[in-house]
Amino acid sequence: MKLLVTGGAGFIGSAFVRLALGTQPGVEVCVLDKLTYAGNLENLEPVAGDPRYRFVRGDICDAETVRRVFEEFQPDAVVHFAAESHVDRSILEPDPVFETNLRGTYTLLEAARARPVGRFLHVSTDEVYGSIEPPAEADEAFPLRPSSPYSASKAGSDLLALSYHTTYGVPVTVTRASNNYGPYQFPEKLIPLMIANALADEPLPVYGDGLHVRDWLYVDDHCRALLALLERGRAGEIYNIGGNCSLPNIEVVRRILAATGKPESLIQHVKDRPGHDRRYALDSAKIRAHTGWRPEVDFETGLAETIRWYQEHEDWVRRVQTGEYRDYYQRNYGGR
Ligand code: NAD
Ligand code: TYD
Repeated sequence: MKLLVTGGAGFIGSAFVRLALGTQPGVEVCVLDKLTYAGNLENLEPVAGDPRYRFVRGDICDAETVRRVFEEFQPDAVVHFAAESHVDRSILEPDPVFETNLRGTYTLLEAARARPVGRFLHVSTDEVYGSIEPPAEADEAFPLRPSSPYSASKAGSDLLALSYHTTYGVPVTVTRASNNYGPYQFPEKLIPLMIANALADEPLPVYGDGLHVRDWLYVDDHCRALLALLERGRAGEIYNIGGNCSLPNIEVVRRILAATGKPESLIQHVKDRPGHDRRYALDSAKIRAHTGWRPEVDFETGLAETIRWYQEHEDWVRRVQTGEYRDYYQRNYGGR
């Protein structure tokens, strides 16, 4: 099985590559990644010496690059992670978000139309459903009401991908996962940012009242779900992948402070995110029924593992906290 993994140098993509090569002897992987601020070859160092792995630096929006990779690697399946993945950055600067998430997805779908593959796994998010009033949970038929440029671009790319199944028979499967956490996550998202700041005795900036609810999914559980869907998922279908662990942000932040032995006085409530979704909640009955998958890592274990990783990889954190990062931090948090 030859897997073309786009965005494989990012947080979830690299976890997927490490897991696929670590557990599936018959798998070959080609990573196609532009290495934006979020892409990091250090995330792939554990597999760098594996003869079944190769890396191509390239932009998924560049049709010629994508065509060449398809021709040379001849993938059996595409696992499409590459995206601009952060809501706050999408609010500050929507342009690259629409370019990569929509044009990039379109370019890959066109390549898969020209040179057929056995499966096109389009990795998406629960954010496409928008904020959900309790006690409802979104199943796969729930209306799409994205709130941010990021989630709107993902919803658009989901629809585009599904249209390529309906119109051209490209074997697309769309997956919608809840919030991931785990090692190697860029410290702009809630959990790694709060861990990094706590470890550095910096303020922990909680948006608004901190009562916004997210459903936390350990990254390896997400990747196991994707492997299960590569085998048993159906073309033309959407699968939700939830962590079954809903928590308000403030509770997550308190647990990080408790686990790192830092005081709650580090919490700083700051101005809320515009268009901030109050609650995400997923019904994942379909993937359970079709594949038997369920999350294996509970939040306590996953968070402890994640904190330990950041404690042991302070050099990794320092290296990704570049001038670009400091500039972003200033733009997003400076006037808050
Ligand atoms: P990430 O930001 O950590 O990584 C994105 C990767 O894509 C990086 O390696 C980057 O270099 C690469 N990339 C960006 N633009 C590119 C382009 N034009 N061409 C080639 N490569 C490009 O993202 P992540 O958190 O690992 O998310 C991966 C996917 O999973 C995304 O599609 C995201 O929407 C989806 N998702 C993420 C979460 C989450 O909680 N992080 C939850 C559900 C779904
Ligand atoms: P995030 O990790 O950006 O994921 P998403 O917005 O895609 O769900 O944010 C998770 C939650 O944490 C979200 O409700 C926004 C909140 N948040 C903060 O309160 N402070 C922060 O500094 C960040 C990055 C997020």
